[in-house]
Amino acid sequence: MCGIVGYTGSKEAYPIIIKGLKRLEYRGYDSTGVALQNGRLKVYKKKGKVAELEDSLVGKNLHAHVGIGHTRWATHGEPNDRNAHPHSSASGKLAMIHNGIIENYAQLKQELIRKGYSFKSDTDTEVLLNFIEDIKTNNECSLEEAVRIALKRVVGAYVILLLDESMPDTIIAARKGSPLVIGIGKGEHFLGSDASPMLEYTKEVVYVNDYELAIIRPDELILKNLGNEKITPYVQKLDLELAAIEKGGYDHFMLKEIFEQPQTIYDCLRGRLDANAGTITMSGIQKYAEQIMNATRIIMVACGTSWHAGLVAEYIFEELCRINVEVEYASEFRYRNPVINPGDVIIAISQSGETADTLVAIETAKAKGAIILGVVNVVGSSIARVSHAGAYTHAGPEIGVASTKAFTAQLAVLTMIALKIAHDKGTISKERYMHLLNELNEVPEKVTRVLELSDHIKKLAEKYKDATDALYLGRGFNFPVALEGALKLKEISYIHAEGYPAAEMKHGPIALVDEKLPVIFVATKDSYHEKVVSNMQEIKARKGKLIAVITEGDDTTAAICNDVMAIPEADEVIAPILSAIPMQLLAYYIGVAKGYDVDKPRNLAKSVTVE
Ligand code: AGP
Repeated sequence: MCGIVGYTGSKEAYPIIIKGLKRLEYRGYDSTGVALQNGRLKVYKKKGKVAELEDSLVGKNLHAHVGIGHTRWATHGEPNDRNAHPHSSASGKLAMIHNGIIENYAQLKQELIRKGYSFKSDTDTEVLLNFIEDIKTNNECSLEEAVRIALKRVVGAYVILLLDESMPDTIIAARKGSPLVIGIGKGEHFLGSDASPMLEYTKEVVYVNDYELAIIRPDELILKNLGNEKITPYVQKLDLELAAIEKGGYDHFMLKEIFEQPQTIYDCLRGRLDANAGTITMSGIQKYAEQIMNATRIIMVACGTSWHAGLVAEYIFEELCRINVEVEYASEFRYRNPVINPGDVIIAISQSGETADTLVAIETAKAKGAIILGVVNVVGSSIARVSHAGAYTHAGPEIGVASTKAFTAQLAVLTMIALKIAHDKGTISKERYMHLLNELNEVPEKVTRVLELSDHIKKLAEKYKDATDALYLGRGFNFPVALEGALKLKEISYIHAEGYPAAEMKHGPIALVDEKLPVIFVATKDSYHEKVVSNMQEIKARKGKLIAVITEGDDTTAAICNDVMAIPEADEVIAPILSAIPMQLLAYYIGVAKGYDVDKPRNLAKSVTVE
């Protein structure tokens, strides 16, 4: 959840760091700080936004060529100045920032207190820093060696950046379980929780792996494992553009990302789906195609919106591949000591690739012998690297906290995987395969048509923005879309919303229905349609406000609704990619109409890297 930035080189460090922290604001945070090294260590930190820190530093001497910066999302110790990062060691000679959780910090803290240490903050970070300094002092060893020794005792997840007053141009970094990227410049190096703080300076990056430690100077990057063995850094070329991170003329990142979906879905299909040749090529999973095809069970593991993608995939995989599918909340799966049988395949779905619950869930399953496929958006992210194989969703950076384009890209990837397996297994006819292949290929163009509803949905948002509750209902492939619609509304407008299987509404939720309650149906033409319309009639009979996503031309259903959002016809297997988009727009416009920060909704963070 925290944002990390570092710089060492010939430029002024402070402007680079503060700008980098602003690029990471979308990750969510409650306090921020910088440490600058110019022979003396200076630490400035406070609760609040990056801009507030910046204002507080006007007029100070911030000259330095080396520095680190941090935006904190509190895990240990409440958000305040004291607990903000960077932390200074007892001697004041070291400064450190940290992203992650040190699970055995209490034990380490007790050991240090017994040695006479006292602490200025309530954080696990300060404990780790003093633990490192204690080792450095008592062993009379280098900081690098002290870090290595300390991290062998640490239980938990971390990215740490350290400055040592006695090493004026050096940053020492290490990671396990939280993300760290190093940007390679000419006579300079950049560090970040992701690539956004360095994109305008360099596109050559190194993703640091778990249990690796980096010694970074302006013209030197040394990478080692905790066994002190040198590792050759694997330099990757980023194809991200800075513009891709800016809003691109839209009012919010969320709206930009909703409107990017024709392109992002096209990017997701490109190079994989060839409608003319009738082929799907998923090189990222080819090595495990046999095991997936013969899987006795597929377990989808994810959180939040990604979990909803897994739920759609359950319907698709069972329908097309005739393989038993289970969908698990990662946070429940990992603590349950799950039964993993040989032949089980886990599909981990994650936009950020850093969601702690999902990461640990798949590490648990991997240890039990399962094959792990990652369907991830962020290249080089932890979940991508822990997986045996997988497929990137190529949706580009998703800055809005609410997941939109990543969700539809996940559905596109999962549908391609299912189609490929079904084709290779022979569980669907060649005709149905080709039909669905062409339907999937037409999605980007149909999404463009769905987006033409934007102004209409903006008007609906004005009409329903003062609702205090909402019910989202759907059946079959569209049931998970109802759940996703409810989550979007909750996240963005703070209106309480529940998603339910439409038929379940009779078993309780219908008691909620009155003339004030908006009930949003996902009611596109499919094999469940007739039953869904019956459910709609039941709501209407009780004066509920009927709003529905329907198929273009379905005038019969439109006639019983208060309002509709009509989308292009699509096979029910493919329809969720389309029916999700009006839900995204409705939530977005209601959130905007209510005056909320739709890119950074309260209490939420983009990447939940704590458990
Ligand atoms: C979705 O709008 C939310 N931001 C949240 O539920 C998110 O989907 C969840 O935290 C999982 O994140 P991931 O896809 O990065 O793993």
